[in-house]
Amino acid sequence: MEVGPRDGLQNIKQKVYTSVKIELIRRLADTGLRHIEATSFVSPKWIPQLADSKEVMKEAIAIAEPKGISLPVLAPNVKGLERAAENNAKEVVVFASASEGFSWKNTNCSVEDALKRAEDIVAQAKLQGVQARGVISCVVACPYDGPTDPAKVLEVARRFLEMGCYEVGLGETIGVGTTYDIERLLKVLLTEIPAEKLAGHYHDTYGQAIANVAKSFDMGIRAFDSSVAGLGGCPYAKGAKGNLASEDMVYFFDRAGVKTGVDLNVLAETGDWISQVLAIPNNSRAGSAIAAK
Ligand code: HMG
Ligand code: MG
Repeated sequence: MEVGPRDGLQNIKQKVYTSVKIELIRRLADTGLRHIEATSFVSPKWIPQLADSKEVMKEAIAIAEPKGISLPVLAPNVKGLERAAENNAKEVVVFASASEGFSWKNTNCSVEDALKRAEDIVAQAKLQGVQARGVISCVVACPYDGPTDPAKVLEVARRFLEMGCYEVGLGETIGVGTTYDIERLLKVLLTEIPAEKLAGHYHDTYGQAIANVAKSFDMGIRAFDSSVAGLGGCPYAKGAKGNLASEDMVYFFDRAGVKTGVDLNVLAETGDWISQVLAIPNNSRAGSAIAAK
């Protein structure tokens, strides 16, 4: 799942023009990616960068639908779902933290209330034929509460699956975890949850994300989120860097002979292009290496 247009852009300080967001989705859609998180229907007061979700979604559907690409969008409450559905979204991402501190900072409510909101969203989404994916934040540690107990992550994952999410993303929001932490976490989750219901969503602050993908893959996980050029971060997780760069992950799987269906060269060109447009460094090591050739 490419999360660049959403997770990648939500934390960029300068205004990113709607036309740039649409062009990014257009280019990503040409790489062979099958799932692109397009935008968020959250409060624009909380995430001003994604206030143009309606316009982005309209064009994104025109680009992605003929290619059969799915375009999940974030919804933090029923209002978000309604806006998403009005704008023809077929999939929403509901989210909750495994820690109270981040839950309050990111969604202004407790973990329990975030889960209750998610239950309402998913129940209503089902009635409208909209799929739901759950994402848990702070699966290894929280910027406010410190280390997270894997048992708490299991509890939230169980709730997401019980309410009807087809998959649960494991958000390593601040990118501090190593393979040691991921193994410890997955050992607990996999006692109860089948690997095919889980996805890795690892931020790369300490450069550990690709190793965490490799560890997760060895433990049976087959779905991963990543962001072109390593864009991203959450404004409510200060200092956290972007997601694992999509180029780095595709390079890794290509070398391992695992088919991703993604053309690494086209992806690397896209990463180079968006980094230049935003005038920020390209945070993909593989992407930068390919661009320098
Ligand atoms: P609140 O301020 O407690 O709620 O925010 P509120 O109901 O008082 O709403 C405030 C204003 O926003 C109101 O407008 C609402 O109408 C409006 P006003 O009356 O003042 O003019 N509003 C909305 N507008 C549009 N769409 C909506 C919506 N909801 C309310 N859906 C709320 C609570 C949950 C809304 C807010 O905290 C919020 O939107 N939070 C989202 C923050 C966010 O998007 N964070 C980043 C995504 S999560 C992430 O990055 C982690 C992840 O990548 C995984 C990982 O890495 O860990 C997924
Ligand atoms: Mg994230």
